Amino acid sequence: MSEFLTQHPRTHTCDVLTLENLDQEVVLMGWVQSVRDHGGRRFVDLRDRYGLTQIVFKPETSASMHALAHELRSEWCIAVRGLVEDRSLNGGSPNPRLKTGQIEVDARQLEIFSQSETPPFLIENQIDTGEDKRLAHRVLDLRRPSLQANFKLRHDVMQATRKYFDENNFLELETPVLVKYTPGGARNFLVPSRHQPKSFFALAESPQLFKQMFMMAGMDRYFQIVKCFRDEDLRGDRQPEFTQIDVEMSFVDERQVQTMAEGLLKSIFKKSIGVELKAPFQRMTYQEAMARFGSDKPDIRFGLEHTDLTELLRNLKGAGVPLFEQTLAKHGMIKAMRVPKACELSRTEVDKLEDLVKQLGGFGLGRAKVAEQGKAWTQSPFAKVITPEGLVQINQACGAEDGDLILFQMGKPKMVHTVLSGLRTNLGARFGLIPKNSWGVLWVTDFPLFEYDEDQKTHLAAHHPFTSPQIQDLEHLKSNPGVCKARAYDLVINGNEIGGGSIRIHDSIIQSKVFDALGISPEDQQAKFGFLLDALKFGPPPHGGIAFGLDRLCMLLAGATSIRDVIAFPKSQKGTDLLTQAPTPVDDKQLRELGIMVRP
Ligand code: AMO
Repeated sequence: MSEFLTQHPRTHTCDVLTLENLDQEVVLMGWVQSVRDHGGRRFVDLRDRYGLTQIVFKPETSASMHALAHELRSEWCIAVRGLVEDRSLNGGSPNPRLKTGQIEVDARQLEIFSQSETPPFLIENQIDTGEDKRLAHRVLDLRRPSLQANFKLRHDVMQATRKYFDENNFLELETPVLVKYTPGGARNFLVPSRHQPKSFFALAESPQLFKQMFMMAGMDRYFQIVKCFRDEDLRGDRQPEFTQIDVEMSFVDERQVQTMAEGLLKSIFKKSIGVELKAPFQRMTYQEAMARFGSDKPDIRFGLEHTDLTELLRNLKGAGVPLFEQTLAKHGMIKAMRVPKACELSRTEVDKLEDLVKQLGGFGLGRAKVAEQGKAWTQSPFAKVITPEGLVQINQACGAEDGDLILFQMGKPKMVHTVLSGLRTNLGARFGLIPKNSWGVLWVTDFPLFEYDEDQKTHLAAHHPFTSPQIQDLEHLKSNPGVCKARAYDLVINGNEIGGGSIRIHDSIIQSKVFDALGISPEDQQAKFGFLLDALKFGPPPHGGIAFGLDRLCMLLAGATSIRDVIAFPKSQKGTDLLTQAPTPVDDKQLRELGIMVRP
């Protein structure tokens, strides 16, 4: 085998040979995609990462090779030496879908590197094999051309990133993976320390504090393509181990970070899929995004916007509808979404939407179909009780006309927004309202600094505790943290949160005040974040940055529906590695060394 490789190095990949190569002797290597016999000849489609080339074994060229070729089966790994010939002149028909479709290679020599068992699924793009089986046989799965294309794209994105940042004076710097556990962010994975019994490292959920300390160390511009670890519940766009394009800059404001980020995305889109994005990207405040779309990551490529009816109905004292009255009495919110006439939903379909509403955490779905020039409602539980004035005003507020359907949601704002934005996305897709091959790119800005946690009865950092409050809100940090806005921004593409960042606090007094607002005592601040507070004492520069979810970005660029299709060896939905079966139990000896006892 090695002799063949020494004597006959590969001359071409399987995607390049055309009529221009006629009569050349070539050496190709790859995997058997398929074999078939025709007119006494044996045909093999040879596949490598680049494409397919047809090989023909003719008895008249070499009887022994022709005989050997009869052994070949799918996924055997082989090399072929032969002459490039015109398929048409050989009596075959060209395949216009392949670049190599005009030619075939008349094999003089066949080298079998290795045989393959029958693979558990076909190595093709369209297969209906379950994902668990694909992940268990990931090596074979990764041979499928569609996945190979995804990883080529991922490579292009990473190369474009490195080039862009290098050209803009950024340093690619590394940060530790084994870090100090700090409370507040995502749940961390813990790693026991053998040398310090009872002590643990955390796996870094992001390089946040290290990139800030790089700025304090005068590094000025930093980026890194970095693995992050979060022990979160998994979804289609979330993995416990994922990759960020992480960025930090000194001496900047929000716009300057965003402009740099726009340049990066423009270059990535151009180099990976040839799309020209227009900058500056659209901007929207968090408040506007929630009001219009019920989401802080709205897909802005289609309508179905929401209308807040709370004030209108408060003025009308509930307009005769008991549900509205009860909601107002409990200081709840009432919102509506107009579904235009063109998006016809039958009564049963609307009933079915109610199931979706319940999955999203709602209790039911209020509805009304507009009729009689906007003077009446049908198919509505509210129709009999709503005051004529209320009906007309609601129709007007929603811009609803005859035949349109109004869907209502009321209660706690969080639930109302979750339900209505879920309905919006569902109906947008169902009625084909989202233009294909289009990009809705948006900065969402002015996020709240804190979120109130009902369970813990305390404020939590909405982004992370190092995010700078907006200057005008500094005075409210203590008295009314809930109203403070952050100098934070997210990048949203087609309804996906692709990146998030902020201007950071570079003043140790403000940093302590934010910790205070988060209920972290001065002793705890020193114990947990002393290293940061110390660094802040020595002339820290103003700084800010952003991190992009590389996997999510690649998922969108590749047109994939799951993040797992752009991660070579991902964890399953249940957070396990189906290929290697990790995580696995370890034996008692190892645990003893670590000073750990596992509860039964
Ligand atoms: P954040 O937590 O918003 O910010 O993360 C940045 C981006 O990373 C992606 N992301 C994920 N992708 C896959 N699986 C996950 N579990 C996952 N979690 C997050 C998202 C997200 O927008 N240090 C800050 C950034 C900063 O302030 O500069 C941070 O990590 O696309």
